[in-house]
Amino acid sequence: MRSVLIHCGLASVLLRLGLLGLEQTRRRLSLRYLPIRSRGLEIGALHCPLPLPEGSRALYIDINMPETLKELRVDAGVVIVTPDILTDGFSLSCIAPQSQDFVIANHVLEHTADALGTLKNWLLALKPGGVIFVSVPIAERCFDRGREITPSTHFLEDYQLGLAGDVMAMRKRNRVHIEEYLNVSAPALSVMQGVPWEPPEGEEREELIERLLGSGSGHIHHHVFSRDSFSDLLGLLDDVYSGSVRIEHVARSRIETVGIIRKLS
Ligand SMILES: C[S@@+](CC[C@H](N)C(=O)[O-])C[C@H]1O[C@@H](n2cnc3c(N)ncnc32)[C@H](O)[C@@H]1O
Repeated sequence: MRSVLIHCGLASVLLRLGLLGLEQTRRRLSLRYLPIRSRGLEIGALHCPLPLPEGSRALYIDINMPETLKELRVDAGVVIVTPDILTDGFSLSCIAPQSQDFVIANHVLEHTADALGTLKNWLLALKPGGVIFVSVPIAERCFDRGREITPSTHFLEDYQLGLAGDVMAMRKRNRVHIEEYLNVSAPALSVMQGVPWEPPEGEEREELIERLLGSGSGHIHHHVFSRDSFSDLLGLLDDVYSGSVRIEHVARSRIETVGIIRKLS
């Protein structure tokens, strides 16, 4: 019994210091903040669904068909979660408001062009008291290394343009993200995957950019995060929804930062 207590205490300290690995950090936060016997959604689980507390169940949402998801993770032995619902997890328009105990989104928020607007949609789906479990990769620790960290002002502008329905302005901003992705992230990703990177040029590049602009399939990272910038984004959410949300926890592991957001009312 004593060794179990020491183990739990040590793990909590390591969690606070950000010294646990990704899987341990996610598991500990899930067991701590998601209620037992609860019901909710996990968006973009792909190959690593979040472990849930006893008796809890998630519906798995993805925008991509299972065949496409298998192409995203071709590593040997990887099991892909088959989505229960194929829909846009950024809008969650097919989910009834205030119907869910939790929304989980690991390494998904960086794919949306409007992070604040997406967080708002996830909040809408939650019952009061419900929890968003969200994590993003740290740019320095992934193929986004070298890209400019997205400042809070940018997230606020995206949100305001989204509210105003200014499609043309958003398209212009998204194009900049795609260019950055093609210049920095895509070559680094190719190196990581051991496949040669042949930069598309001329018409081919334009066609690819157009395809990515028109696609909601979240193939690129629109925004990039540092540990601090993710906390800033959550602070901004707290400001925009003053009194309706509480940031319960921000934790880090070696490659990502995780936020736990509670909807109060
Ligand atoms: C980088 S993977 C995340 C995998 C896993 N959750 C993790 O922690 O590593 C992103 C996932 O989000 C999905 N996705 C991207 N855009 C989406 C959208 N608009 N709606 C629903 N799922 C989306 C992708 O198909 C993919 O399964």
